Amino acid sequence: MPTIGELLSDAAARLRASGSATARLDAEVLLGFAVGADRTSIVAHPDAPVGQEAAARFEEAVRRREAGEPVAYIRGIKEFHGLAFAADARALIPRPETEALVDAALVEVMTRLGRRTGEAGRGGPHGGDPIRVADVGTGGGAIAVALAAGLRARRVEMGKHVTILATERSPDALDLARENAVGHAAADGMRFVEADLLPPVLPDGGAPLDVVLANLPYVRTDAIADLPIAASFEPRDALDGGADGLDVVRALLERLPEALAPDGVALLEIGADQGDSAPAAVATQLPGWRSSVAPDLAGLPRVLRVERPGP
Ligand SMILES: C[S@@+](CC[C@H](N)C(=O)[O-])C[C@H]1O[C@@H](n2cnc3c(N)ncnc32)[C@H](O)[C@@H]1O
Repeated sequence: MPTIGELLSDAAARLRASGSATARLDAEVLLGFAVGADRTSIVAHPDAPVGQEAAARFEEAVRRREAGEPVAYIRGIKEFHGLAFAADARALIPRPETEALVDAALVEVMTRLGRRTGEAGRGGPHGGDPIRVADVGTGGGAIAVALAAGLRARRVEMGKHVTILATERSPDALDLARENAVGHAAADGMRFVEADLLPPVLPDGGAPLDVVLANLPYVRTDAIADLPIAASFEPRDALDGGADGLDVVRALLERLPEALAPDGVALLEIGADQGDSAPAAVATQLPGWRSSVAPDLAGLPRVLRVERPGP
């Protein structure tokens, strides 16, 4: 029987030759997946033998990775914001930089709930109508579900204090989002709607949204071919943002006056090269609204904040 160490060095060499920039890491994660152990145990036990079935599973996984398939699709799982999300070709694999959008959303919603608590005449710990949030282009549901889980951890009662509308144009992606919400017991107060950006009539009789979140496609069409081969396994509609990458973002900005409440906020993920062009689009399309850009953990422009003036 081959040992963990032998399988790892052989696979890492093959994956390196196939062009993976993270060959050793990929091999460790995939062997953990094949054996049913976490990566730490794999690394800690190089002399342990690997059984025939697990070795065959590993071989199959390495072959798929050699062909360029992302590790997340092979494992069927991607960690995001401390949660394990089901991941497959129905939707984009959630990216670590999108966690900045979830963090910003948590601050935004908690601040709004805190403000309401201080207002007179509001019942309950947070009082009043729920804060209405939308995650537009939810894909596999990473943002919506991580936000719901984060709010639950802060003792926010979903449905009563906060509702989340998760929209998606792809019915397949929407199915995955539903599965992830159910998998994390986070579906309370959440609605999944197939729509081009936002439904023509918002839920709750068309009540406007307080917070709009979106990680829409923002890669320039001419840059798609330069993405790592793994991206070619992801839905193209999840990536292609048109000539300057901002087509879908601009389309959402267009919808905000009808959808966002006065004093409402939209938080949109943008590309690192859109730190100037995205706020310029806001200035053109939404005169009188304010915008700013916050960086991600790598210090790159990432979250565009768009504020509608109050009443
Ligand atoms: C970059 S992916 C992000 C997915 C998910 N929000 C995430 O962060 O992992 C963009 C998603 O927006 C969806 N999308 C693109 N255009 C859309 C539109 N006009 N209306 C609704 N969804 C759209 C795509 O299908 C895709 O799932």
